[in-house]
Amino acid sequence: MDAKAQRIYLIGFMGSGKSTIGPLLSKQLHLPFFDSDIEIANETGCYISDIISFRGLDRFRAIEKETLKKLSSKNTGFVISTGGGVALSDENKRLMKENGIVIWLKITPETVQKRLKGDNTRPLLKGRNKDDVQRLMDLRKPHYEAACHFSIDVDNLLPEEVCRQIITILNTVQ
Ligand code: S3P
Repeated sequence: MDAKAQRIYLIGFMGSGKSTIGPLLSKQLHLPFFDSDIEIANETGCYISDIISFRGLDRFRAIEKETLKKLSSKNTGFVISTGGGVALSDENKRLMKENGIVIWLKITPETVQKRLKGDNTRPLLKGRNKDDVQRLMDLRKPHYEAACHFSIDVDNLLPEEVCRQIITILNTVQ
């Protein structure tokens, strides 16, 4: 497997399973795992929802950018699960695409609603109905498309199946 294929970024909308698939994939590939939101929470000592609520979304995006840079500069291979908004920044897109292989876990608004029902850790989805989620997703779709090398429709797949598909994809990367 090519060295670039040992630096894997998982991107996608909230609820697409990045934080579940990431650890599974890293275990199977024997690579270290990082989650950008966990790194941010550990570094700042604050919940992501508090950073967004009290310091603002722009500040959160700035911290997120720095965190992505720091994680990407590691000399080892890795699997990184990114926050759902990481791919919105052109700088982040470029960094991920040049540095590794970017996999977009694609999900429909219906599945997001189902999976995140009752979740109150994501301020961006608070009080949003299915149409709002659809609108937010439509705004993000071009960013995910531009950021990724490969995409997988994950709605009806178990985490293990998503992992298997990712490994198949990585085996094709020369
Ligand atoms: C966000 C997604 C969240 C988290 C923050 C903002 C977004 O991560 O980074 O609440 O803008 O989509 P998950 O995608 O892991 O939920």
